[in-house]
Amino acid sequence: MWECTYDLLELLERDGETFGGKAVLDLGCGAGLLGILALKRGARLVHFQDYNSTVIEQLTVPNVILNCQEDNDGDSEDNKKGRGKGGLQEEDSCEIKIKAKQEVKDSSPPPKKKAVDQSQQPLLAKCRFFSGDWSTFLALVEKDDPQPKYDIIFTSETIYNTAYYPSLHETLHMLLAPGGLVYLATKSHYFGVGGGLHLFETFVEKRGVFSLDHLWDGEEGLQRHVVVLRFKKTKDS
Ligand SMILES: C[S@@+](CC[C@H](N)C(=O)[O-])C[C@H]1O[C@@H](n2cnc3c(N)ncnc32)[C@H](O)[C@@H]1O
Repeated sequence: MWECTYDLLELLERDGETFGGKAVLDLGCGAGLLGILALKRGARLVHFQDYNSTVIEQLTVPNVILNCQEDNDGDSEDNKKGRGKGGLQEEDSCEIKIKAKQEVKDSSPPPKKKAVDQSQQPLLAKCRFFSGDWSTFLALVEKDDPQPKYDIIFTSETIYNTAYYPSLHETLHMLLAPGGLVYLATKSHYFGVGGGLHLFETFVEKRGVFSLDHLWDGEEGLQRHVVVLRFKKTKDS
């Protein structure tokens, strides 16, 4: 777990965010706590992505399963609220799909499936899991019919390498729903790798697609931030 994820969790707890009926993506998820929060609070679907298939298989999936088990005996209060507000729907697909990047390249091996009885775990049926880099992930979900658009995209501690800003930005651009929000938690600067918030903000500004607002700026030690991105308003919107 990276520190900025705790900052974002605290901010969501303090300022509130409604998840009822929403489609959520935890991009660069690691342990997946942000997606798990959304899942337990009534999100319609939650997709988890990490570069590394071992992380997904050995950390994210078991963590989601453990956290879903607590809710096995029935819907949580938040779930009930979500259903009331947003028209909670079950996803049709009840498979846990773990798609590794080699699977995308060859397109021959079938997705690996875990032996989990999802009928016992209704929350799990709303999840999908992806591994691979952002370009591969984007290409994969763009093939889905209907193509998912996410109301909320979480991405925490993912802007440390400037080389990946184009593919990260493209993924956010293509997959965020109109009116959706990208919550980004990050340090000011990542020593040794060179990326950080200032460079990412400059990149976003140049692209001209999103506006970026600071929601929280930590003052202590290595500075940490939570920012939100949303599509810029056009003259017509
Ligand atoms: C420092 S970890 C943060 C993990 C988690 N969000 C947390 O805060 O604990 C960075 C994450 O970004 C993902 N990531 C970084 N660059 C990526 C890329 N080019 N394509 C896909 N995922 C990437 C990594 O797989 C990893 O999950």
